[in-house]
Amino acid sequence: MSSEGKPRADQLLTIGELTQRSGLAASALRFYEREGLISATRTAGGQRRYERAVLRRLAFIRAARSVGLSLDEVRAAMEGLPSARTPTRADWTAISRSWSQRLDEQIEALTALRDKLDSCIGCGCLSLARCRISNPEDSVAALGPGAAYLPAALRRPASS
Ligand code: FES
Repeated sequence: MSSEGKPRADQLLTIGELTQRSGLAASALRFYEREGLISATRTAGGQRRYERAVLRRLAFIRAARSVGLSLDEVRAAMEGLPSARTPTRADWTAISRSWSQRLDEQIEALTALRDKLDSCIGCGCLSLARCRISNPEDSVAALGPGAAYLPAALRRPASS
């Protein structure tokens, strides 16, 4: 770090270095930047430069996506941090604890879906009158547009 607290130019990562260190494609990094999840400065020539803390943000994003969070939810989690900073170890502990409950709900919803599917295996009727997968309790119309056949815990906004 420089004496002003900002990283020196030689401490910043190029996009190539960041792809190598993170395992993410350059296109993914540019996408996350457009989505406001990471940021980069630009050299005089317009090339991106990233602070090393971006690696931790990317690890957070990847973990969140693995749990099934949408980009909007990842953004909200980051924005919920003081000064929208990079998650610290303590932040990660608290946030991942909340995700554990979310995973439990997803597992429960998938288990229920699997149990309903059991009665469909070998059937093939897709009857609106009796198939609990194709029209569970005739409630499809009330669910609105989108992936209405998935349990609510597994549905995400179409934009993410
Ligand atoms: S396909 Fe026949 S009950 Fe679901």
